[in-house]
Amino acid sequence: MASAAPRRATVRAPSDRSAWVERWLSRVSDLADLSRSNPMSDAVIDEIDARRIRIGDQWLADFASCNYLGFDLEPEIAASIPEQIARWGTHPSWSRLLGSPRLYEEIEEQLTDLLGCEDSLLLPTITHIHMSVIPVLAGAGTVFLDGRAHKTIYDGAHAARAHGATVARFRHNDLDELAALLGTSFARPGIVCLDGVNSMTGNVPDLAAFAALARETDFN
Ligand SMILES: Cc1ncc(COP(=O)(O)O)c(C=O)c1O
Repeated sequence: MASAAPRRATVRAPSDRSAWVERWLSRVSDLADLSRSNPMSDAVIDEIDARRIRIGDQWLADFASCNYLGFDLEPEIAASIPEQIARWGTHPSWSRLLGSPRLYEEIEEQLTDLLGCEDSLLLPTITHIHMSVIPVLAGAGTVFLDGRAHKTIYDGAHAARAHGATVARFRHNDLDELAALLGTSFARPGIVCLDGVNSMTGNVPDLAAFAALARETDFN
């Protein structure tokens, strides 16, 4: 039996290594500044009490949570989980491309009824939604992107661009600029991406007006 040739370890010269470390440190220097100036950077949260959190011995009002609707601590929801964990385990196990626990189908059926829409798809995080749904909907068409959309929407738009879509940005909340862009001969299909509630300001766009403009537009 032929034995594999011994692998030669690549040892970098110390000067090389320090250049790499210097480059990396300069790349993350803003993070180092942030952790010096902000107790909520890379914090470990020891305890939660409704909208208050404890970090070490400090209790803080929590404006950073993603528990938007307050459901994370809802006793009725929490109580319904152990039975399903006992049945299905702590992880759904299959890629949904291969198969889904029936539970997912049931949730989606209920959601479809609730929303009165054609169908619905359940994804576990917003990042998953934006990274997977935006490129699929956009195809080689156009993503109209609100300038202050959440980073995850930007990431989804960038993924769409990598798959051939064009990204057209309009000023935050600027219905007129969006209308002007929609009036051009853009690559179709088109989708408009903005947050329902802005994550930095908490402000709500005039969604009804955005939806009305979208309905007037031929996106296909
Ligand atoms: C508005 C908004 N969109 C997306 C995200 C990302 O959410 P997730 O952690 O579910 O991917 C967050 C959370 O930081 C958010 O506040």
